[in-house]
Parts: sequence; C-alpha cells; structure tokens
Amino acid sequence: MDSILGIMGAMPEEIKGIADLLENRKEVVLGQRTYYTGTLKGKPVVVVFSRWGKVAAATTVTTLILRFGITELLFTGVAGGFHPELKIGDVVIASRLIQHDMDSRPILPRFEIPLEGISFFEADSRLVQKAERLLKERTVPSVFHSWLDEEYRHAFNVQAPIVWVGDIASGDRFIADPDDKAELQRLLPSVICVEMEGAAVAQVCYEYKIPYAVIRTISDTADHNSPVDFPSFIRHVASRYSLEIVKSWVED
Ligand code: ADE
Repeated sequence: MDSILGIMGAMPEEIKGIADLLENRKEVVLGQRTYYTGTLKGKPVVVVFSRWGKVAAATTVTTLILRFGITELLFTGVAGGFHPELKIGDVVIASRLIQHDMDSRPILPRFEIPLEGISFFEADSRLVQKAERLLKERTVPSVFHSWLDEEYRHAFNVQAPIVWVGDIASGDRFIADPDDKAELQRLLPSVICVEMEGAAVAQVCYEYKIPYAVIRTISDTADHNSPVDFPSFIRHVASRYSLEIVKSWVED
C-alpha cells in the first residue's frame, strides 16, 4: 500500500504555509474544509485545517482517512501550558491524549471513553520517537532562532525552546481561568498541556488503526498570566514551527 501522510493543523495560518510548499497541488472542498493534495519532497500528502474543537477535528481526520486514504497523521497546533516549567514557545509531543470533558459518570469512570474501556490514547511510539529526534536536532537554539524574526522572539520572550514529550488533554473549552486550570491539574496530574482537538483525533486514529503524532507549540499558560497576542503568536511563531516540523518530517 502506498503511504500517504495526512498533515492537519489547528490553525489556518500553519496550513497555508504548508499548502504553499506542495508540488502538484490540487484542492478538494468537502464539508467546509479545503483539502490540499500533492507531494512534498516527492511524498504524497494531504494537508487540511482541522478547525477548532473535538467534533471539527474528528470529522476532518475521518475524511482524511476514508476519502483520502491517509496511512499516517501529523497534527500540529498550539496549546496552553499546565506544567509549571513549560514556557511559551516550547514544543510538546503527545505521548498520550485524554478528553478532559468526557464524563459518563455514574455509568463509567470519569474520562473513560464509552465502549473503548480506556481514558488515554497512546500516540504511535515510532512517530513520537521520530518527532523527538527531529525536533531535538532542531532545538539547538541557533536553529530555532533562525526560524524566528528577532522582533517576535523578543516580543514573546522565546529564548531557548525545549522539546517535551508528555500527556495532552483536549476538550471543547479554551482554558483561561486559573480555577479551571487548577481543577484539571488536580484531576489529571500527568497532563502537561491542554488544547481542543488532539484527543478527538487520537480516538479516530485509534479506531481506524492509523499511526499518529500530535505536536503542539505552547502559546499561553492557560490562565490569566498569558499576555500573548494570540493571532500574532500563531502567525509569527507557531506557524514557523509547524512549517519546519513538516519540512523535516518529509525530508527524513
Ligand atoms: N490552545 C491554546 N491554548 C489553549 C488553552 N489555554 N485552552 C485550550 N486550548 C488552547
């Protein structure tokens, strides 16, 4: 079977940059998404913006699998940091993903996915290792610095980004209230960052047996202490990361 890499981004800006690199690019519009097909370094890929939230991301990845026949998925985006040592501009590779708003109590334990009997989805260990290797090779500050304009590195105080591998929680809620953050940290102590799509994509990939990796750039600290200009961070920092991650992924 030919391998086809699905590249999904949770931000339109990251997808635009990647779609612009495609060779033999074609566009297919389905269900209010534009899927860009083509090759990158000769490798077949399909690139799409997931939109936001679990349902949006789950339907998009299902389309990638059933309509475009992807055999592997790379999902990039941003996340709010939970771990106290995570800094804005750090990158997290998901080892496991959990849906923090899944709650079927009293029928099932909190967080358990109905009929799956699990709460955490494990990302594909081969892809996690590949992501870690590629990112760490590129984590050398000078390389990271060459991706980012001096002005934005300064504005967002991105100095020497660190690559983490850890648990990610997803839910249909942007976490910006310190009480919400504290409660989730208490319930899910292994989670190091939070976003709104990854664990939904993980569930679909698990059910269809598609290996996947989720890689997130930390954009805020999921509380009131996030002075970040979100759109600017996405455009000038997170999108650059995503582009370089995808380039190194297909070059490897
Ligand atoms: N994505 C980026 N930051 C986030 C946050 N604080 N909560 C949920 N999703 C996010």
